[in-house]
Amino acid sequence: MSHSYREETTLNTSSNPTFAEVLETRLSRRGLLKGAMAAAVTASLPLAGCAGTGQRALVMGFAGIATSTADAVRVPQGYTASVLYAWGDPVGHQSGSPAFKPDASNSADEQALQAGMHHDGIHYYPLPHGSKSSSSGLLVMNHEYTDDGLLHPDGFANWSAEKVRKSQNAHGCSVIEVRSRGGQWEVVRPSPFARRITAATPMRVGGPAAGHALMKTAADPSGSTVLGTFNDCAHGYTPWGTYLACEENWDTYFINSGTLTADQRRNGISPKGRGYRWNEFDERFDAGKHPNEPNRHGWVVEFDPYNPQSQPVKRTALGRFSHEGAWPAMASDGRLVMYMGDDRVFEYIYKFVSRDRVNANDRAANANLLDHGTLYAAKFNDDGRGEWLPLVHGQGALTAANGFADQADVLVRTRAAADAVGATKMDRPEWIAVHPQTNEVYCTLTNNSQRGGKDRAGVDRANPRANNVFGQIIRWREAGNDPAALRLEWDLFAVAGDPQHPDAAMRGNIKGDAYGSPDGLWFDDSGLLWIQTDVSSSTLNRGHYERLGNNQMLAADVRTGETRRFLTGPSGCEVTGVIMTPDARTMFVNIQHPGESPSERSDPKDPRAYSSWPDGGRPRSATLVIRRNDGGVIGS
Ligand code: FEO
Ligand code: CA
Ligand code: CA
Ligand code: CA
Repeated sequence: MSHSYREETTLNTSSNPTFAEVLETRLSRRGLLKGAMAAAVTASLPLAGCAGTGQRALVMGFAGIATSTADAVRVPQGYTASVLYAWGDPVGHQSGSPAFKPDASNSADEQALQAGMHHDGIHYYPLPHGSKSSSSGLLVMNHEYTDDGLLHPDGFANWSAEKVRKSQNAHGCSVIEVRSRGGQWEVVRPSPFARRITAATPMRVGGPAAGHALMKTAADPSGSTVLGTFNDCAHGYTPWGTYLACEENWDTYFINSGTLTADQRRNGISPKGRGYRWNEFDERFDAGKHPNEPNRHGWVVEFDPYNPQSQPVKRTALGRFSHEGAWPAMASDGRLVMYMGDDRVFEYIYKFVSRDRVNANDRAANANLLDHGTLYAAKFNDDGRGEWLPLVHGQGALTAANGFADQADVLVRTRAAADAVGATKMDRPEWIAVHPQTNEVYCTLTNNSQRGGKDRAGVDRANPRANNVFGQIIRWREAGNDPAALRLEWDLFAVAGDPQHPDAAMRGNIKGDAYGSPDGLWFDDSGLLWIQTDVSSSTLNRGHYERLGNNQMLAADVRTGETRRFLTGPSGCEVTGVIMTPDARTMFVNIQHPGESPSERSDPKDPRAYSSWPDGGRPRSATLVIRRNDGGVIGS
């Protein structure tokens, strides 16, 4: 869905000061110019110490392509993109491979054996585990949410328990086995690894909130087992080969027939819900009747794709919010750092630092590593420095006197804790990417049209535009180049916009091909930065965006700042999720919600109204395989 509803309906109104209020304290230590837009003008300055670190020169060996409004995927000359795995394709489970029915009449049980809807974050795991195979592996991906106007032949008409189950089974994750013969990729069916995780899959609660009173419900008095994961957006992964599904707009699945709690309000739950209607046949989604059920969602979920019997675990030490994704970096001393964004207007950037070191020689020793560590929220000062503020019960403002009972309470109410310590309110943090050679961290801030609005936080140097419809990419370097450090230096890598826009504030400073609303972000091993966009369908090709075409993917050389357009998506889609095989000769990209209507609700009577990609029928989210026709390294 476009995330526009978020901008209308959810808002961090906590009172920690924004940097607009402390602008006068800014310094010009790195020679940055004064004023909010100056941050944009200087955005491509390298961070201190960045030059001469041994990065090899990048060569973007493809010609950037034009914008497009076609209902098609376009890639540069010399490349081919083909569809591998679309919504409804069988996952290849050994218990059956029901074929996709083009009229959407597959049952709920069949949907549980097929690709879910709305592909998002994706990762590649070589087979066998420990190998670097680029011709055999597992693809693991999220199915973020459903468009029930497309999911059922008659949409929301005749709403039933079966339809709720089908919707729940179209959420979650897919694990598929894939292999290549001479560059021709296929899904292996059947495969012992094939698996669907859904909004009904039992999962264990791990970390400080496991068994806590806030996690207990009538159905689970022990507070230890939750049914399902849903609205998993981008993803994460660990050095030991597990996958992290990250629960983003989980609040939208709940209604509240009674009275909203403060935490439910803070997390955006609406009394009437946002239209999924699961509560009508699955009462736990009525937060009035089951006030703790929402506490069991909004977490990072870890599972082992190499072990199809393994139970997923909700890792509560990583906090509860609208998780976009979770991306690893190794601390200097061998502990694991996970970077995370909370994708909602005026929310925060976080990182988790594990208590224990990663054991590179014993995979099992890392099984519960994510249950112990410290969660921090980021503060970006206007002087180009920043700090990580610990969210630890008993420290600073996070005391019983301030209403935080214990560490589990701090984690369940992560946003309130970050409010209390004074983190910086950001313009919707989405993906985070760590440079493979320099450890510099990049984060997309997709947009925030409420910035600077009435009763809203004003601009600051990290979020420099009021009515920020195009977004920006922030980057930082940790002190001592150690991901576990508590101090950092930051700047803006790019301020997105349309260089031909009549309004100067809408132009941005992109060098090369223009884009807006950056969301997906990933470094390949060579250090090329891949940027994917998610302009909402109500905005796409309209107004400020009329010259930028459909959603797209670009590559950027972060040393020069040059950006080149590599892919344009079909009508109404967003482009999200990107990974390559280890040899960098195959790229997998997800196309989400092709044909999304400006209202974000498909009409079951006319499912092809806005797109019939990829196969001429109702639009289907799908995984693309992208290859160079000569079999060469992608992007080079
Ligand atoms: Fe699901 Fe933040 O995009
Ligand atoms: Ca999305
Ligand atoms: Ca996203
Ligand atoms: Ca997005």
